[in-house]
Amino acid sequence: MTDRFWNESDSKIFIDQGRIFTPSRDELRDAFLDLIPAELDETFQVVELAPGAGWLSAAILNHFPSASILALDGSEDMLAETARALEPFPGRWETRTFQLQNPDWRAALPTGLRAIVSSLAIHHLKGTAKRDLFADLHDRLAPGGALLIADLVEPASVPALRHMARAWDDAVERQSIELSGSPAAWEFFRDDHWNIYTWPDLEMDFPSPLVDQIDWLRQTGYTRIDIPWARAGHTLIAAYRDWQQRRRQAAGSRQQAAGSRQQAAGSRQQAAGSNDYASSVELFQPRAPPPGPCLKSRTRYFAANHVSGSSCQSGPGIGRIDLLRAPGSGPFQAPPGAQLQGRV
Ligand SMILES: C[S@@+](CC[C@H](N)C(=O)[O-])C[C@H]1O[C@@H](n2cnc3c(N)ncnc32)[C@H](O)[C@@H]1O
Repeated sequence: MTDRFWNESDSKIFIDQGRIFTPSRDELRDAFLDLIPAELDETFQVVELAPGAGWLSAAILNHFPSASILALDGSEDMLAETARALEPFPGRWETRTFQLQNPDWRAALPTGLRAIVSSLAIHHLKGTAKRDLFADLHDRLAPGGALLIADLVEPASVPALRHMARAWDDAVERQSIELSGSPAAWEFFRDDHWNIYTWPDLEMDFPSPLVDQIDWLRQTGYTRIDIPWARAGHTLIAAYRDWQQRRRQAAGSRQQAAGSRQQAAGSRQQAAGSNDYASSVELFQPRAPPPGPCLKSRTRYFAANHVSGSSCQSGPGIGRIDLLRAPGSGPFQAPPGAQLQGRV
């Protein structure tokens, strides 16, 4: 069987109907925005793979006013549509063509990216080609950076397949009326066989089981992997590059001993004594903290710096603090309303 690739006729249909064909796309957009590890006012760069009509890139630039985007797609029509969607954000975006399955474009990506995002495209790559992609993208992320992939996944059981097929049809039928006031988009979706759980396209669509993708992400160095959102076979995977990597590199010879937990504990104490970073933790604050100083100068702990450089986490979201611990001090306690992510 020969592989078939996405063509401009597919692009035209998806430009017109993508919002109706994607279950709860506004909800998916908001999930992406929640998962980008950045403060609203930070300056950082994101790459979007296969932006299509550009709705996700536009949402990111709108939400983070100092962010910039590099958007790559294989379709000229899609890139023209992306450019139209990004017109309100002059100077903050660039588009490039690429072929997802040819790895050559990956070496030309910028490094130090805060996030790499993609929606409904990676399933055009076969099984372990996804693993190779995850590995190459890992190298392009800054420590703490996110790989956020929304995509169709291969169900692991017949009942799951049945649910995904039925739930996707139901969503498109409902959204056709809600978003266009007519069943025409739903009827086209049904009659043109867009539901791959009912009509698999074995030449173009290669969704992989979710558990395989999680394995590949772990094998290629990602930590803190979640599935924060899923609807009708459409699944958002969030995987982060380890924060500690930068600290380990920066700490040089001191951190070479980090192989054993005992040695690492020793070096943390040394670091505290020399007024250097000792260890870092991540905090999740579901709600804005109470007014006043936060995460600062707590008893027996000398300092805490938010990752963005500000002195505290001022709103809900994920932040990181670097701890300067006094030798012999007890475990770090999260401030009221915040939850620790990971171990100190
Ligand atoms: C289903 S659309 C999704 C578009 C958009 N991300 C969204 O969620 O609405 C698939 C996108 O992947 C792009 N694409 C598909 N196969 C590709 C390939 N082999 N190389 C590059 N882009 C590809 C298409 O041009 C299209 O923009």
